[in-house]
Amino acid sequence: MDLAALDARFFPGLILAIETSCDETSAAVLARRTVCSNVIASQIAMHRQWGGIVPEAAARAHVESILPVIEEALAEASVTLGDIQAIAATTRPGLVGSLSVGATAARTLAMALEVPWVGVHHLEGHVLSPFALGEPPEFPHVCLLVSGGHTEILLVEDLGETRILGKTRDDAAGEAMDKASRLLGLGYPGGPAIQAAAESGDPGRYSLPKGLSGDTLDFSFSGLKTAMLRLTESERNRLSVADAAASFQETVAGVLAERTMRAAVQHRCHTVTLAGGVAANTLLRHRLMSECEREGFRFCPAPLSLCTDNAAMIGLAGSFRLQRGERAGISEEVLATAPIPGTEIGS
Ligand code: KG4
Ligand code: ZN
Repeated sequence: MDLAALDARFFPGLILAIETSCDETSAAVLARRTVCSNVIASQIAMHRQWGGIVPEAAARAHVESILPVIEEALAEASVTLGDIQAIAATTRPGLVGSLSVGATAARTLAMALEVPWVGVHHLEGHVLSPFALGEPPEFPHVCLLVSGGHTEILLVEDLGETRILGKTRDDAAGEAMDKASRLLGLGYPGGPAIQAAAESGDPGRYSLPKGLSGDTLDFSFSGLKTAMLRLTESERNRLSVADAAASFQETVAGVLAERTMRAAVQHRCHTVTLAGGVAANTLLRHRLMSECEREGFRFCPAPLSLCTDNAAMIGLAGSFRLQRGERAGISEEVLATAPIPGTEIGS
């Protein structure tokens, strides 16, 4: 791979990146693909008391954290605001109140510093997170994007050119994790809790439905969710929480890996990437790694620190868009929903 040619497609100056789309306030400093700092202030502890994210509380917490988090990101990178040459911030999709905090900070700083800024699509950030690796993925590659709100198999043909090959027809994988965790009394957020409980469990103990069958690249997790509900109701005190968590995790990781590999084979892609919060799941990482090894494919999972929401990935996506000359206007909107730029549905 021609790394110099790839690097030339990213903005050469120092970028300050900001992410506030959901429940993490994050700021990062990047130079091309190099992450100089990536500070994340999580609101998880606050939202845990309500068992999920409360949008009003999230926005208020972003307001409180945004400036200290930016200051920390600058300090960790040993730079000052005067060194920043461009700004990138998530503007879509997400909680509108939360997005507004980051976008307003970006717009205000850009005006004060007289530097350009660009609005970034959160999922494009996730998709590009493996590009922080020293050996980034080649194009085209297949990306399994699994987050709290999205589960998609993407054909990534180039920076900013992505085609959706398959997606969930109901719940996202992370959403299913969070719901199963709540049913098992394991708390919020569900993914890490399910993973921890599954460690001592038997993944073969309970047989759970895998959702859609046939040669579709789509997913459905609603039947699995109902089966988990039935299991907890029928087993009651006899239920082994560890075995149920392990069986659930096994089913989700199995179906995600199987369909992703099928997509890669069908589209003759020899590189597979993995991104989004659920990409932090050890079983899913191992499963995809061993299946890629068996097929002779390269596997490029996002680094663990860039799986759950973070500003570094927003910096990567913002960087190549800035380098292409894209700029946000003074009245750049924030949006609750928006398609990934450059996507068209189809296979
Ligand atoms: O990408 P992300 O941080 O936020 C969204 O953009 O949605 O993803 C959050 C999701 C949550 O549903 C959380 O339960 C899940 O990622 N998650 C995990 C793990 N860590 C976070 N799921 C499975 N295993 C994990 N280790
Ligand atoms: Zn995310």
